[in-house]
Amino acid sequence: MAENITPFNYDTPFTPARPRKKRKNKPGLHATTNQTQPSEALHRMRQYLLQGDWMLECKQLLRESVSLLQASSPEVLCLGLGSPASSRDARAQLAFLLEACDEMSLDYSKVSAYDPVFTPEDQQLLDDLEVQRLTENRGAAYPFDTPTIVFMPHCDLQLYENLLRENWSRERLPNLLLIANRLSEYLDNHPSHKFSADFPCISQLAPLISSHPLPQCPTQTTAFNNIALQYIPSGSLETLGSGFWDLPRLAGGAETKT
Ligand SMILES: C[S@@+](CC[C@H](N)C(=O)[O-])C[C@H]1O[C@@H](n2cnc3c(N)ncnc32)[C@H](O)[C@@H]1O
Repeated sequence: MAENITPFNYDTPFTPARPRKKRKNKPGLHATTNQTQPSEALHRMRQYLLQGDWMLECKQLLRESVSLLQASSPEVLCLGLGSPASSRDARAQLAFLLEACDEMSLDYSKVSAYDPVFTPEDQQLLDDLEVQRLTENRGAAYPFDTPTIVFMPHCDLQLYENLLRENWSRERLPNLLLIANRLSEYLDNHPSHKFSADFPCISQLAPLISSHPLPQCPTQTTAFNNIALQYIPSGSLETLGSGFWDLPRLAGGAETKT
């Protein structure tokens, strides 16, 4: 049984909503309304993210990390986005991902996305963008035989573990550029034997990963906190003994889905 790790929590304390009549009308930045189509809200969010230097700084980080993948046209997998039609954070994360694709001159059709919470509105939004929607829940256990950017903002720990386990080899791990919660932070916060036993891949890999946190987003604080670009530096796996690659068998032989 996995250790009882608290699921991702936002750092920002809860702030009570102001009474409705005093709220400023900012359509598109918050949950979509009948008047605001998801595509329009997404467009506004993209404009919003482009204000100031934040996105420029993120793009710089992205260029540096992607160049190490040594792929002119990597695949992109997006997991655990949430519902961009109804969640402002999910919408901000999707806007970020689309900006990142533009920066890399990647067609949105190179992006595959899966989240069990996608609603028909989300599905329509993604279809209109020509993002490939995956329909099977694989618990993030996708194998990467070619360079792939995996965007998993604020996913549960088990999904990160499943993703790494599926790619647990010298050949596959370097294909991965993970844009997700900082794995080393989990290790720092749970330095226990039990954590290592429950999440062996995260425990073993986190100290080897090169991690580049996104700068703090001044406007969408909860959407991007704790998110970092993470990859395995070339050469860091070369000298590891064979024991590193021996993982404990999973109970029942199946991946643990969430
Ligand atoms: C903590 S929420 C994060 C949502 C959003 N990214 C955010 O930061 O607000 C975790 C998300 O992972 C999704 N999820 C759970 N199991 C999943 C799976 N097997 N594959 C992909 N996504 C999954 C959940 O539906 C949920 O939307």
